[in-house]
Amino acid sequence: MNILLTGASGFIGRNIATALTAAGHRVTPAARANGIDFRRMHSASDWQAHLAGIDAVINCVGIIGENGGQRFAPLHTLAPSALFQACAQAGIRRVLQISALGADETAFSAYHLSKRAADDCLRSLDLDWFVLRPSLIYGRGGKSARLFMGLAALPRIPVIGDGQQAIQPVHIGDVVATVMRCLTSPQVRQTLDIVGPETVTFADWLQRMREAQGRPRARLVRIPASLAMALARVGRYINPILQPDNLRMLETGYKADFRPLARFLGRMPHTAETRLFFSDGTDARSAS
Ligand SMILES: NC(=O)c1ccc[n+]([C@@H]2O[C@H](COP(=O)([O-])OP(=O)(O)OC[C@H]3O[C@@H](n4cnc5c(N)ncnc54)[C@H](OP(=O)(O)O)[C@@H]3O)[C@@H](O)[C@H]2O)c1
Repeated sequence: MNILLTGASGFIGRNIATALTAAGHRVTPAARANGIDFRRMHSASDWQAHLAGIDAVINCVGIIGENGGQRFAPLHTLAPSALFQACAQAGIRRVLQISALGADETAFSAYHLSKRAADDCLRSLDLDWFVLRPSLIYGRGGKSARLFMGLAALPRIPVIGDGQQAIQPVHIGDVVATVMRCLTSPQVRQTLDIVGPETVTFADWLQRMREAQGRPRARLVRIPASLAMALARVGRYINPILQPDNLRMLETGYKADFRPLARFLGRMPHTAETRLFFSDGTDARSAS
């Protein structure tokens, strides 16, 4: 298949591109580097010329926080919705959208709401669509994974409040494997939460990342939620992940039932083990 892949330069997109190429597909990247900027592509007609000869579309563009001209509404809602409508007009039936866990009826953050609006648009169209909602993704090369690895390596590990926020991280190899399966699955029109099999606390997750780096467990520094929120208002200028809304989303937790994903993949998603922290979706065993 010739697959239009948006966000091909990002963590998820890069890994998907590698797997697609290895499987014999042709990848057509739609990126700012080749003139496709989601800040501008807001009408179906903007996309038509880019869809000639395309068999399937995968959208991996996104930001975790707004800054400068990068805003949630154009990037997460307007451009993807226009792309999906263009697919419907061009007869490109198979369309995959990388959304995010929590972009559902419980969504409250601008991040999740903007993702959900595009998901809803895709689900309203007569297409063979898949809306994939990954949890926190770990593996080599991810921005959030890199940040958390860095926090985990500090002499004392900073956590918010008691650090007991529940998360269900998923390896990038499982995200890639899900995408690959979506391309051929006859069970279309699915919304799937992409989560790992274990629910862990945020504090335990950072301790595991620490152990994976060969360091002994460390004591925690508990940052009161109100102070963490105040710090995040400044932290957003250092790292876009450090946004007040992202702390609120963490407090809400990142978890879901993993069994629908296991059924779809025909196997369990991976349990976090040391080697996976340092491997990506190109690791044959992790992506299989
Ligand atoms: N990583 C996770 O843990 C995780 C978990 C759940 C959901 N997600 C979602 O998955 C999506 C991809 O995540 P990621 O980790 O791969 O992010 P990433 O590494 O930051 O990649 C983001 C991609 O979006 C592209 N992009 C940004 N602004 C753009 C614009 N104005 N026009 C066109 N392309 C633009 C970037 O291209 P440039 O090279 O041009 O910057 C890059 O290819 C995001 O929507 C994210 O919210 C990620």
